Amino acid sequence: MLTRTSKSSHKPSSLLLPLEETVAQERTANNVKEPTHKTNYKPLSSIWDGEDAELLEQLLDFYPRAQPRAILDATVNGGRFWRGSKRSVIGMDIEAGHRPNVVADNTLMPFGNESFDVVVYDPPHIPNQGKDKSKDFNVRFGLVLRSSKEHGYTFSHTYPPFLREAFRVLKPEGILLCKIADYIHDHQYQWAHVDFIQAASAAGFRPCDCIVKIRKGPIIDPKWKVAHHSRRQHCYWLVFRKSEKCE
Ligand SMILES: C[S@@+](CC[C@H](N)C(=O)[O-])C[C@H]1O[C@@H](n2cnc3c(N)ncnc32)[C@H](O)[C@@H]1O
Repeated sequence: MLTRTSKSSHKPSSLLLPLEETVAQERTANNVKEPTHKTNYKPLSSIWDGEDAELLEQLLDFYPRAQPRAILDATVNGGRFWRGSKRSVIGMDIEAGHRPNVVADNTLMPFGNESFDVVVYDPPHIPNQGKDKSKDFNVRFGLVLRSSKEHGYTFSHTYPPFLREAFRVLKPEGILLCKIADYIHDHQYQWAHVDFIQAASAAGFRPCDCIVKIRKGPIIDPKWKVAHHSRRQHCYWLVFRKSEKCE
């Protein structure tokens, strides 16, 4: 049990230990061994307010059990995630106009089983919006795709077929990194990240971590002067492993 300052404690306050030290002492007392496989351990914060490319570099250092050699970006678009990166990445997109390495549908990937150490996925985020021509929404967020009433105006139905393929092309212990945003549509909160986690679990992935990426301003259609939901100023980077366990 963890103990910290409490009114019932009889220790003088100067003798109280910081929580981290208390935990460390208890772990030692309970003979809990710290993992030794990461020699260059650098902590990773659960909140990120920088560029995706920079975060991605840290994720690729942090989660794979060995340096990833084969990386697939399954929605590469203009390749902004890899600007300045020295990694060798196969970029795939369904739109030939983005000039990806491979033009293909990520629900039917032209790769053999267990080909990749890491798959990166940044699906179109907000269907049927983005009429504001002054912003480059279409390019940055893949808003060219629309979703029908039958699919509840969401992209959630596209997750299972992608996840089946991602699972197939990943090596055992491989990592799936997904950037995903919830949004408001039709006056309702659309829980894209929850849908994705559920679909990934059903496909056999183990959900391992979640990083909240924050942005300075919300993404909004200016036609909404008054909103009855909070303005979205964050999205998630979700981390999955093709494994029985995360660590
Ligand atoms: C949000 S953008 C990705 C942006 C990219 N990460 C970047 O930072 O440059 C989504 C991309 O997914 C692509 N896409 C949508 N459906 C796809 C599919 N079924 N297969 C492959 N690519 C798809 C779109 O063409 C679009 O370029």
